Amino acid sequence: MSGKLIVFEGIDGAGKSTQLSMLYQYLQQRGYNLMTTREPGGTPVGEEVRSILLNPLHGDLQHRAEAFLYAAARSQLVYQVIKPALREGKIVLCDRFVDSTMAYQGYGRGISRNFLQQINDLATGGLQADLVLVFDLPVEESFKRVNKRSTGDRLEQETHSFFQRVREGYLEIARQQCHNHLVMDASLSVEELQRQVRTVVDNFIDGKLRESD
Ligand code: TMP
Repeated sequence: MSGKLIVFEGIDGAGKSTQLSMLYQYLQQRGYNLMTTREPGGTPVGEEVRSILLNPLHGDLQHRAEAFLYAAARSQLVYQVIKPALREGKIVLCDRFVDSTMAYQGYGRGISRNFLQQINDLATGGLQADLVLVFDLPVEESFKRVNKRSTGDRLEQETHSFFQRVREGYLEIARQQCHNHLVMDASLSVEELQRQVRTVVDNFIDGKLRESD
């Protein structure tokens, strides 16, 4: 099987990072050649850009500049890490990718999705995920979870209506791109959700292995 890019998406507090690391351990035990990474970040440059983006002191960051910073970190990650890993045949588990920009900067901030599509394409060279799991959760529940774990980075300080638009944006993207997107019910228990994630990913990998026979 050639390399595959599997992306975990969702609003803050949906539990995608926990699910990703549980899946990583599971796939590792099964002997797959894999790696995990995250956006924004995953490279030394990207991690620095991440700290600018999440710093609550940068409340004056302009919406377009924000979109370009996410795109810059993404471009660094794609060309330095993801494309080489895919060429080596790895399964890459990525915490967020282009849909985050569409959902947060597009549906959330109201930036033109056409403009965002262009900068995403320029940043990634058109690279697309093979499978995207969208972790969906009511905004009220995500607020409860985020408040428990942190004092709130720049994005986490956004309003309920912002996250409502982001959530609806994700669901819309998943509907429009149902060929590679699947919505997961993130209100389930961690264990039940992980069971479902494993089933989806096992089926995806088995299908790809059969295709390459
Ligand atoms: P994380 O904490 O889930 O890693 O994500 C960092 C924050 O950045 C999160 O609030 C979502 C936001 N984000 C965007 O607004 N646009 C993007 O393109 C990405 C990748 C993340």
